[in-house]
Amino acid sequence: NRCKEQQRWGGGGLHAEITAPSSECRSSAGGLITLFYLIFYLFLAGMFALTMYIMLLTLDDYKPTWQDRLATPGMMIRPKGNQLEITYTVSDTESWDGFVQNLDLFLSPYNDSFQVQTNDNCPPDQYFIQEDSGEVRNNPKRSCQFNRTMLGDCSGMSDRFYGYNRGQPCILIKLNRVIGMLPGKDGESPYVTCGAKVCRIVVDSGASAVL
Ligand SMILES: *[C@@H]1O[C@H](CO)[C@@H](O)[C@H](O)[C@H]1NC(C)=O
Ligand SMILES: *[C@@H]1O[C@H](CO)[C@@H](O)[C@H](O)[C@H]1NC(C)=O
Repeated sequence: NRCKEQQRWGGGGLHAEITAPSSECRSSAGGLITLFYLIFYLFLAGMFALTMYIMLLTLDDYKPTWQDRLATPGMMIRPKGNQLEITYTVSDTESWDGFVQNLDLFLSPYNDSFQVQTNDNCPPDQYFIQEDSGEVRNNPKRSCQFNRTMLGDCSGMSDRFYGYNRGQPCILIKLNRVIGMLPGKDGESPYVTCGAKVCRIVVDSGASAVL
């Protein structure tokens, strides 16, 4: 083998003539390195795909694996304010106009007519449980109707400004879905209390409420 011979001589003893490996020799080594990296990266890609595949096998399309570890269920507040604070000036229509539009948009899918079309009319005061029956998966789960009119004065039907023009703003709180959570305890509904953090009434320039 000429290539080996040359290398042996090249790296040989004191009196050996030092010769650089021929280009033929270098190109065959280069080919080996390329082949090695090709196989190496193919192997890595295969490992990645296999790990991904196994991971995906453990996931359910409809139910997050670790959602029961939520310490406190997530909530959202509408209208969206700056850092959960709703600040506005009653006399300045533009300062709360955005909030009213935000609520209009948020509540539009809760129109009674729309709820009747999309959601189930569940019996009141009962959990609406939809179990899977054995292998037959009961998905996607259906929701109960939540009619906008149930919000009363905050429905935007009777008062289209949601009280913002009177300094009594409506703020809606929505609980994010937590699968398997049964809200309430011993037949009592969950309740939320809220109050104004600061309430300043400035008589001459209108009222300002901070919640
Ligand atoms: C819901 O009702 C409001 C007021 O009646 C209307 O402006 C809005 O377009 C409706 N939205 C849908 C999705 O039907
Ligand atoms: C929602 O409104 C519709 C139409 O008014 C009514 O038929 C339905 O019973 C209401 N649903 C609930 C849960 O109140």
